[in-house]
Amino acid sequence: MTSDVAGGISTRAFRTLTSIVHSYCGIALGPDKQALVANRLRKRLLALGLESYEDYCALLAADTQGEEIEVLTDLITTNHTAFFREAEHFRFLGERVLPVLGPALARLGTAVRMWSAAAASGEEPYTMAIVAAEAARLDPTIGWRVLGSDISRPVLAAAERGYYPIDNLDPVPPELLRRYFQRGVRSQAGFARIHPELKRRVHFQRINLLDSVYPVGELQHVIFCRNVMIYFDEVSRAAVVQQLINHLLPGGYLFVGYSETLGRTHHGLETVSHGVYRRP
Ligand SMILES: C[S@@+](CC[C@H](N)C(=O)[O-])C[C@H]1O[C@@H](n2cnc3c(N)ncnc32)[C@H](O)[C@@H]1O
Repeated sequence: MTSDVAGGISTRAFRTLTSIVHSYCGIALGPDKQALVANRLRKRLLALGLESYEDYCALLAADTQGEEIEVLTDLITTNHTAFFREAEHFRFLGERVLPVLGPALARLGTAVRMWSAAAASGEEPYTMAIVAAEAARLDPTIGWRVLGSDISRPVLAAAERGYYPIDNLDPVPPELLRRYFQRGVRSQAGFARIHPELKRRVHFQRINLLDSVYPVGELQHVIFCRNVMIYFDEVSRAAVVQQLINHLLPGGYLFVGYSETLGRTHHGLETVSHGVYRRP
């Protein structure tokens, strides 16, 4: 046993907490994150009236409902996201995927099913929806819908509200801003909400990517799973990629973050662009 401390957390408590987070959501935190974990949890300890990180480990061990594990994971994970983040992917979706898949599926009476599997506060799935709505303006036969999922209930609640500070909308081109957002007035000045017509085609659901079953219903034509697997260890990443592929139709597309890779094997997928893979 080691009693080293960084930021007031012992190495033993750090290892216990990171192992809980790892088994719960796949996020792997190396020893260099000890002070960061201590910082992120300090306020929580104060709120709970606990005196040490060991006390917090004991509380988690007694948390049979799993509620505190969710809080812990929320405090440790990063929810950073943005509209049109890694914009090349949305260009690819709008120019190369939807104009081809959309009309082909329309002839079969089917809508394009898209899933944002680490949706955070909703900017990614709503950007997918904006791009799809734009494709459908050019070809009104195109039908589409978007599912957004995340492990975190607080970020999903924000996504469901679809209500954002105007400053967050800087990456949205002005024309799309006018078409797909409604600016708040009076007490809501400084905020904008997603247009209800767009919003009604975007649904949210809590899904832990580490679970062995993803309750998404039908197989998907497009899956975005970006900037989350980068935090996973290699084993979890490979398992999640395989699960995602199992939920992707042949001919469907998987998008991962610019700085993520699928590893050596590519799991039988074709690479079609930077961070874009197609199931043959
Ligand atoms: C950095 S955000 C990425 C958001 C968006 N995909 C993007 O690229 O902008 C990562 C999100 O992954 C979620 N997450 C972390 N572990 C997860 C898991 N095991 N299952 C589902 N979501 C997870 C976090 O709650 C967070 O909202």
